[in-house]
Amino acid sequence: MAAGDATLISADNEWSPLRAVIVGRAENSAFPSEPAKMIEATMPAEHAANFKPGNPFPAEILSKAQEELDNFAAILQSKGIRVYRPRKVDWLKEGGYTGAMPRDGLLTVGNTLIEAPFAWGCRRNEINLGYVDILSELGASGTSRICRAPQIVGKDTIYDDGKIKGFGNGNGDDSSHWIVNNSRPAFDAADFMRFGKTIIGQLSHVTNRKGVDYLQAIVPGGYSVEILETTDEHAMHIDATILPLRKGLLVYHPERTSKAALRGHDVFRDWELHAYPFAPQPREPPGPPMFMCSPWLLLNALSLDENRIMVEANDTQFASWVTDKFGMTPILCPFQHVNSMGGSFHCATVDLVRSSV
Ligand code: NVA
Repeated sequence: MAAGDATLISADNEWSPLRAVIVGRAENSAFPSEPAKMIEATMPAEHAANFKPGNPFPAEILSKAQEELDNFAAILQSKGIRVYRPRKVDWLKEGGYTGAMPRDGLLTVGNTLIEAPFAWGCRRNEINLGYVDILSELGASGTSRICRAPQIVGKDTIYDDGKIKGFGNGNGDDSSHWIVNNSRPAFDAADFMRFGKTIIGQLSHVTNRKGVDYLQAIVPGGYSVEILETTDEHAMHIDATILPLRKGLLVYHPERTSKAALRGHDVFRDWELHAYPFAPQPREPPGPPMFMCSPWLLLNALSLDENRIMVEANDTQFASWVTDKFGMTPILCPFQHVNSMGGSFHCATVDLVRSSV
């Protein structure tokens, strides 16, 4: 390959050596404002009152989260990984949420970067505001494909009649389980993960069947999208439900999915599948509130390669477990203020290039 002709987007899995990545930024982030039924379905009940228009995250959380993100980006750069950062945006003024969680809005599949057709109205402009410089740089290479999200023509009816009537396996009548209906394609990219030519995803309160069909239609030829059976009645983002550590080895949240459900997918036929055996420990001393996530966010680790993963500095029980049981090398990094805003290392990044091993 000629100099200057490097591949800028190329990732087929979650564990091959990471070469290029987007790392989010936290400044001016605000609590997302969506209809109450969506907040009730997806957010911790004790923090629901915060999710109203014009409510910034506490200033101290934002400044410390920004320090954590900058430190994390510096660690990645020190390991030879190319790091892209989004534009600084005033999310409060724009009526948006954050630039700290790019995983929700962008999905790399092979040489293609796909913008999510967000269900949440407050996030619909997120990629446009924060990431256009990165998208134009990547798209200009000629070796990559950028798929922007489809325009919503007319009124968005995604919330009409959406309600939880009971919870099944998520694979039945979509509209019976979820806050969003199936009136247009909707997904968050964090509801999907790459396992070679198979993309494993889940239906959720932000990802509907038309979203899955749309994703299948735009992934490069040869890739197929499969839906994992999950039992998370608050489902929103699959990256605290399954965590592949390396090819052939996956950890899962035992209350959200099962070995049987995973084995139902050919791609996992020969994999070692391990339920994480401990209830996540409360952090001591207590850190900032987890406004948007469950403590299972400890599974939201980011692999640098088949041995090294980024783990939150307080999640020592998890770090010891993956070390002792699987010979992994966790890199402990403070991230609890980013966690407070809605995600950990996986959420705060988008893999752009992972080289094949
Ligand atoms: N919504 C899930 C996944 C977050 C990445 C949780 O809170 O556990």
